Amino acid sequence: MENLPSGSRSVWMTTASLEFPILQETIETDVCVIGGGIAGLTTAYLLSREGKTVVLIDAMEIGKGETGRTTAHFFPPDDRYFEIEDAFGEEKARLVAESFEQATALVETIVKKEGIECEFERLSGYLFSLSPDGYANLDKEFEAARKAGVELNKRDRVPGLSFDSGPCLQFRNQAQFHPLKYLNGLIRAFERNGGIIYSRTRALEIKSRNKTFLVKTEHGAIGAHAVVVATNTPFNDRLVMHTKQAAYRTYVVGIRVPKGSVPRILLWDNGDPYYYVRLTTPDEKSNHEILIVGGADHKVGQDEHPEHRYAEIEKWVRKHFPMAGSVDFKWSGQIMEPADGVGYMGRNPMDFKNVYVITGDSGNGMTHCTAGAMLVTDLIMGRKNSWLDLYDPSRSAVHGISDFLKELGNTMAQYSDWVKGGDVDSPEQILPGEGAILRREEQKVAIYRDEGGKIHALSAACTHLGCVVSWNAAETSWDCPCHGSRFSVDGQILHGPAATPLEAVQLD
Ligand code: FES
Repeated sequence: MENLPSGSRSVWMTTASLEFPILQETIETDVCVIGGGIAGLTTAYLLSREGKTVVLIDAMEIGKGETGRTTAHFFPPDDRYFEIEDAFGEEKARLVAESFEQATALVETIVKKEGIECEFERLSGYLFSLSPDGYANLDKEFEAARKAGVELNKRDRVPGLSFDSGPCLQFRNQAQFHPLKYLNGLIRAFERNGGIIYSRTRALEIKSRNKTFLVKTEHGAIGAHAVVVATNTPFNDRLVMHTKQAAYRTYVVGIRVPKGSVPRILLWDNGDPYYYVRLTTPDEKSNHEILIVGGADHKVGQDEHPEHRYAEIEKWVRKHFPMAGSVDFKWSGQIMEPADGVGYMGRNPMDFKNVYVITGDSGNGMTHCTAGAMLVTDLIMGRKNSWLDLYDPSRSAVHGISDFLKELGNTMAQYSDWVKGGDVDSPEQILPGEGAILRREEQKVAIYRDEGGKIHALSAACTHLGCVVSWNAAETSWDCPCHGSRFSVDGQILHGPAATPLEAVQLD
């Protein structure tokens, strides 16, 4: 199992990851897929089914990225249908609903066809409001979702809960599964179709080569007619995509409840902060289940004490689910929020005709990533797809202009960290297991003191576009507040868009 800091292990991570070789040579293929999460592996699997030769690479072991950190809900868009309709019109809201329905149906079909045992189940999802202030939005959402073709009902309260949720919307036919078991099933199906996987193989650059591309990695290269970048946030685009989406951390606790004490449903509210809830069963013989509750989001790198977010969620859980027992799991994950609430899937804006991206999951990673894989597969196969304009990564941010300007202002403000002092005046002030920023003349140094007392010093300048990283005690990592890059305490990349590690610094 991955050596994770205490307090950061998802309920899915008991599933062993599969090991693959490191690419050490130059090879040729029809399609190179970069990123071995749901988006990348679904794309690779679908293309392999079409008869394409496909090579998939991942910078880490497969399953060590965001797929192991999702809560794996298939439910309606994080932005409400009435907001999507206001921004894009009724027809595009209908297409969003269609893409979500078809993505969920495709996962169900793959599970059956490939015999993947991943606890996939259809169930109802309930959107509720604990405060009367949210009732009007429930009504608006009911009308907009119904117009978009979604199957839903209004109910007085969520059935089967021990607390009165107040009025709610029941979205029928939603779904959940075990994401890493599904990923392992996809890997096996992809390999049966002749697909090839390399892990611990970081893509460094995509170079144009006549009418094809060369994906350069640390120890080898892949020549391909088409390249799909499915790395949660694209590493190949320095600026454009990163001004149109913002990186958030979301926190999750997995808490024991007696078996059968909470109904098998998906649940989320429209409060601020908001929470999302599902169940998973450790195994058939167990007399308890794990209630998974997430929320308490904040922008990456912009909370000095993110570890307190777990306590916030736990307090909410214990208030509403008094049968809750021990907290067995705590973890956080990354969400890419598009400025206009709709994912980016299709041709990469500033690039070549056959380079594609799937990003902007907006907390709907399972559906967005699967819909993105379907769309990109159609583009590569030269087929029409009615979702092309809706999800076009080149579209302007005009539909979400106020959020776009707010996030841009927030990012620009982060650069003022360069004129501020450090968190500490000397490394002696840093306790074992903690990290802090030290100012050294013009330079800022990210210092971590390990449990044995040894100091690890790195340049605090993020290698993407130079913001000052900040300490994340919940994940024992250095996180960038500008576009969400994250680094380990020895400077290695945990999350893009950064493509190179933080530089080591020699302290006097
Ligand atoms: Fe863009 Fe750090 S992620 S500057």
